[in-house]
Amino acid sequence: MNTELLNQKLSEPDYVLKKNWIVQQIEFKLKMIDLELSEKYNRTIMQKVEHRIKGTDSIARKLLKKGYKITFENAVKKLNDIIGIRVVCLYSDDVYKIADLLKEQKDFTLIKEKDYIKTPKKSGYQSLHLIFEVPLIYKDMREAQRVEIQIRTVAMDFWAGVDNQICYKKDPAKLKTAELALKNYSSEISRIDKQMLELRKNVEL
Ligand code: GTP
Ligand code: MG
Repeated sequence: MNTELLNQKLSEPDYVLKKNWIVQQIEFKLKMIDLELSEKYNRTIMQKVEHRIKGTDSIARKLLKKGYKITFENAVKKLNDIIGIRVVCLYSDDVYKIADLLKEQKDFTLIKEKDYIKTPKKSGYQSLHLIFEVPLIYKDMREAQRVEIQIRTVAMDFWAGVDNQICYKKDPAKLKTAELALKNYSSEISRIDKQMLELRKNVEL
């Protein structure tokens, strides 16, 4: 797998700068959304906002998995999640409040939505994934950049973190049991999320 050329392109200052601009632009928008919701509901909404820009190896692996040649052009054209932003909140209804406000932004175009909260993945993974196209404007340059925004509760984030670590360990014999246990814990987490939401609603009344 020759990733040298890809790596070279991904390291160019122009590319790196643009990705960082987009991250800052989205994080700023999220701050405004957080302020609006916190004011409206009189409590803290976002617990954590993280981002990552996909590196060369991860891009190459994903292109291979999808059956594309490992080229810079394919990476930019075919992958939606080179820029990934994660928003973590306390309650599952807040996930949708944040998502709704993101969708209301005139400069964000929703490309794809995957609701793994309504329908968890086979693994038990829960999260709301939104793919947006966001314009990057500087002087006379205007470019559309795609980003994946994952929104989930602290409990869902806890589950995904543990799942991530365990999947990387890869002892196939132990993995089966772990996968089964994780699937069960995913239902437990969903149950607790609902109970926590009820608790909040009862107190609010
Ligand atoms: P990827 O090739 O994994 O990016 O999948 P996809 O392009 O079909 O998109 P999908 O929305 O299914 O998943 C995108 C991202 O969600 C992944 O990169 C992970 O961050 C996260 N994710 C999806 N499934 C799982 C899972 O089973 N466990 C964990 N821990 N994370 C997951
Ligand atoms: Mg991904």
